[in-house]
Parts: sequence; structure tokens; C-alpha cells
Amino acid sequence: MKTGPFDSLRDYIHALESNDRLIRIKQMDQDKYEATGFAYRLVKEYGYDLAPAFLIEKIKINNQWLNGPIIGNLFGGWDAEALIYGVNDLGASQSISRKKTFNHLKSLNLDNKGWPKLPPVTVDKENAPCKENIVIDKDVDILKFPWLQTNPADAGRYINAATIFIEDKELGRNVATYRCQVKAKNKIGFNAEIRQNAWSFLSKMKERGEKTAAVAIANGVDPITFTLGASKVAKLGEDELDYAGGIRGKPVEMVQCETNNILVPAHSEIVLEGEIPLDKMEEEGPYGEMYGFMGLKKNENFFMEVKAITYRDDPWVVNSFAGVTKISPSILQTVGNFLNYKTFIPYLMDVYRPAESTGVLTASIKKEKSGQGMEAGKILAEKDFFAKVIIVVDEDVDVYDKGEIFQALGTRWQPYPAAEVIEKMRGMPLDASAAERFSTSKIIIDATRQYKDEGGPPIWPDISKVMLEEMSPETTKLVDENWLKYFED
Ligand SMILES: Cc1cc2nc3c(=O)[nH]c(=O)nc-3n(C[C@H](O)[C@H](O)[C@H](O)COP(=O)(O)O)c2cc1C
Repeated sequence: MKTGPFDSLRDYIHALESNDRLIRIKQMDQDKYEATGFAYRLVKEYGYDLAPAFLIEKIKINNQWLNGPIIGNLFGGWDAEALIYGVNDLGASQSISRKKTFNHLKSLNLDNKGWPKLPPVTVDKENAPCKENIVIDKDVDILKFPWLQTNPADAGRYINAATIFIEDKELGRNVATYRCQVKAKNKIGFNAEIRQNAWSFLSKMKERGEKTAAVAIANGVDPITFTLGASKVAKLGEDELDYAGGIRGKPVEMVQCETNNILVPAHSEIVLEGEIPLDKMEEEGPYGEMYGFMGLKKNENFFMEVKAITYRDDPWVVNSFAGVTKISPSILQTVGNFLNYKTFIPYLMDVYRPAESTGVLTASIKKEKSGQGMEAGKILAEKDFFAKVIIVVDEDVDVYDKGEIFQALGTRWQPYPAAEVIEKMRGMPLDASAAERFSTSKIIIDATRQYKDEGGPPIWPDISKVMLEEMSPETTKLVDENWLKYFED
């Protein structure tokens, strides 16, 4: 079985396909938003976490058939994440894939006392597939690539799953994903939100009196580089590519841009090089955001003039169906968060923030004394910027299993006294339910079995599943061993 780490998007997709984890579709009509409708239906059919990636060979945009492939839900399914990190021997189920990947990354972090680092290397242009085609200045026309308009209410087509590189003499390099509205044949929007690192980079350059910022936008990079760009693993001043190399176990190969000194991954599908004017801004959006709502139009946002495009022959395009499917691998960030939170909550056993409901955090604890459920919840509310509903459960509840979480809420929890509301904390600006941007209320739900002195019942009955496991220890092993056989014809 071919597993990662992969050097390119294509290698990863080939591995998905050979492992039966890719749906290949001949053509779709995006003038009728067919790919978007498909993405919604896919998630409905398979569930958000398990829906596989899909590849569209040809797509109709503005009444013209454009060659793809265009890839959606690129990181769908826990076994896809396992493939990325080279976790093979995946076992019989998606949940085993997830657990193995989690444990693999946890050991990698603990063994190295933090995420390992390996700096990138630079290769010659002859060895860089992204230089197979080079188009400069007036010949630049980004409109001919199959970037999608995902929702009819979006401001237009978007480059929304690319990895963006900025370099600064004081701050170093930043690698991140920000959506870019396609505005003209040589102009795109640049939507780094306030407080994101690129925003800090551009502000610093402006402060120094610079007029423009050089930027490179790489669409279709290897999955681990993409993950580092889309996560908060690397802090301001750290290089995402060092971590990408360390986690891959081999350095990322980079190549220099044609019109500036920025380095981009040599195996990228399409690279846009350009300049952001620092003294001008333009309208951007609206755009269907990851929270499932149409983000408002922004009156003032950065934009980039595209000076060059380099691309592989027959380039592949990734589209992120934000608010519909998963947009980024999540296990790496989950492991990082878990290890961080565990330094404050030693009895923390597991933690999960479902990507489709970012405001919810589920956590399990090995409860040893009264008050620990609520104590853990308060620390998590403080530490986890995204979480506004924090559900703490006992360690026998699987925090990834929404059914088990609902069951714990319905059968183990009393809203009073085992809940606490926090009126105001720093919150996620994309949360449409908040009255004030960057602000939120939070609720801690302590769904661990409450002891008597916590307001719980005098006696908790035995849990039936635990009785089965204790009184018939061979049962689980027997069923696990036979699991695949039950489904054979
Ligand atoms: C597909 C995708 C699109 C994203 N779009 C944006 C965006 O438009 N603006 C933004 O500020 N963050 C966006 N993000 C989140 C950032 O990539 C993420 O917060 C990242 O850590 C930012 O990097 P930074 O910490 O170096 O600023 C997006 C993430 C993904 C996966």
C-alpha cells in the first residue's frame, strides 16, 4: 500500500485512489453549482468526518468546459489523514486509523520534546515541476484556470485552498492559507484576517515605509506543508517549513520564484507570484465561510497584482468547500492542543473539536476527585479560543463519537448544578451568533458522573458495557477479530 509522506499533491491523490478513497467524476456543471451540491450531499451520505475526497475531470465555468482535475474534500476521512503521515496497517475501521494517527503524532512530539524540525532545501529550476510552464507580466491570465465560484452568493471565483508564502527581513517567513478572490486576469484579493501572521507581516512592512509586499501563492502543495500552513503549530517567528520537514522526516524541496526572491515548494501545481500594494485597499467578498454562513462583504481588504504564473503541465486545482466539507487535516493540531492542555490538566485523557462544529469541544478525563470535571472545563474554556460549548465526559466515553457524547448528555448529566455559563470571553470573529465580533459567551457542561458532594445521586448503577467487558472479557476481542468476516458474502 502506498502511504505518505508525499512530495506532491498528485502522489497523495494517487495513493487515495489506489486505496479506494477517491470518487472520480467525469464532469460537472459549476454554472449550476453541481460540485457544491455534490459536496453537501456527500457529507449528508457519509457523515462529515468520513466523506471521501472527490476529483472532477472537467468542469463547466461561465459556459466554457475547462480541464481539471479539480479536487474537493481533499482531506476527507480519517484514513486519508493516516495516509498523509505514513501510518499504514490501518486496521478495519476509520476510528482505528484516527487513533493510530493520533498516537503516531503524539509519540513523534513527545519523543522529540516538541514537533521535530528539518529545514527545507532549495532545488534547481530544472528539477522543479512547477516550472514546467512560466508566464510573465502581460501574458498572465489566471482566469483560464478552473477556480470555482462555490456558492452563487459568493463575490465570484476564489483561489481558496492555496498556501501563501511571504518573507520579511525582520520576521522571517510565513506560510499560511488565506482565501483569494479572483478579481481580474492579473488581480486577486488577499484575505489575511486582522491578527493573522500575514497581517502582522504586511503591517510591519507598511510601518517601515515600504510600498509593496512580494508574495507567492502556491496551489496544490504536499499535504503536510498544507497542514502546517493552515494550522497554528508554527508561531510568529517560527518557520512552518522546518516543521513540515521534521514531521515528513524529509525536507520540503523549494525553488525560487521568477519575479522575486521568495521560495515555493518545487512540486506545487500552480504558483502565482505578485505584489500587494501596501497603501491601497479594495472591496472583498461576500464569501461562504467555514461556519456555514455567508461572510459579509469587506469594504477594505488587501489585494495582489499577479506578475507571473508558473505551473505544472495540465495543472491540478484544489477547491475548499468551506462550511460544507472538511477544509484541512485536523489530527496534527488536535495532538498539539491535547499535549498543551494536558500540561494544565494532567488528568485529561482526550480532546476533540469537531471540524463541522468548531464552537464545540469535547474532552474526557480520568476523574479522581470532586470538581475535576468543572475545573478541566474552565481551563479548556480559557485556553481554547474556538470552543464556546465545552463538554467534559468520563474517560470511558469516546470524545470523537457524537452518539456517545449525546448519550452522555442524555443519560449522565443534570444541567443543574453541572453547568456553568461564562458571559464574555475572546471569541472567533466568524461566529455569526455573537453579538460582538471577537467576543463570545461560553458554557461548560460537566457530563462526568457527578459524585454525591457535587450534587449527584447517592449511588450510580453499574454501566452495562463495563459489566460485559468485566464479566466476559473475551467478547470484544472475539468481535474485533471477526469484524471484517461478518461482512463477507
Ligand atoms: C481552506 C482554508 C481557508 C482559509 N482561509 C482563511 C482566510 O481567508 N483568512 C484567514 O485569515 N485565515 C484563513 N484560514 C485559516 C488560516 O489558514 C489559519 O488560521 C492559519 O493558521 C493562518 O496562518 P498564520 O497563523 O501564519 O497567520 C483558512 C484555512 C483553510 C484551511
